[in-house]
Amino acid sequence: MKQGRLITFEGVDGAGKSTQLERAVAWLRARGVDTLATREPGGTPLGEALRELLLHQPMRLETETLLMFAARAEHIAELIKPALAAGRWVVCDRFTDASFAYQGGGRGLAAARIADLERWVHADLQPDLTLIFDLAPEIAAQRRGAARATADRFEREQREFFDRVRAAYHQRAHAYPQRVRLIDASGTPDATWRQVEAQLDAQFA
Ligand code: TYD
Repeated sequence: MKQGRLITFEGVDGAGKSTQLERAVAWLRARGVDTLATREPGGTPLGEALRELLLHQPMRLETETLLMFAARAEHIAELIKPALAAGRWVVCDRFTDASFAYQGGGRGLAAARIADLERWVHADLQPDLTLIFDLAPEIAAQRRGAARATADRFEREQREFFDRVRAAYHQRAHAYPQRVRLIDASGTPDATWRQVEAQLDAQFA
């Protein structure tokens, strides 16, 4: 059985990644690809319980980072690896690049610490393709605006936090040009989708 592919979607909150992810999953399925859609933190019952804590319970940065990777360890073992081994494609809403961007860039944890956890939890697994939905934080905040009352711990962060998150994502794209693609998310959903479709299409080349 041919190993499946892992495709991850990233970006600052409000960049429109979730809408694009739904469209990507539908597009892959229409092409006959057996596709699993999942998310981080989350994806498993324990991961979803950890997500609830991570999004709403104040905690130390170390705790936050370790819980992100605890949820990820569970997710990889229970869901992602079995799916890939069965030849399925996995489309995941956020993965370890989000830890580098948010806990690293946004909150200032040393990248070396995150790299240690990455080596521990998934030395043998990297996404085949990562799409980073890139958008100026002030525009992303406007797009999030309507949902402000229900904002979680991350969405409530200030503009400067998201500037650092975005810069860290840019660094990831620069460091891993083969795997990571920046998608300009400043236009209409259709304009963004055309870039996503081109990247997905290239997976079949
Ligand atoms: P998000 O994926 O944006 O979901 P929704 O669209 O439902 O708000 O929310 C998850 C949040 O978790 C997001 O603000 C980024 C954060 N996060 C981290 O800080 N580090 C990580 O490693 C991951 C996976 C997510």
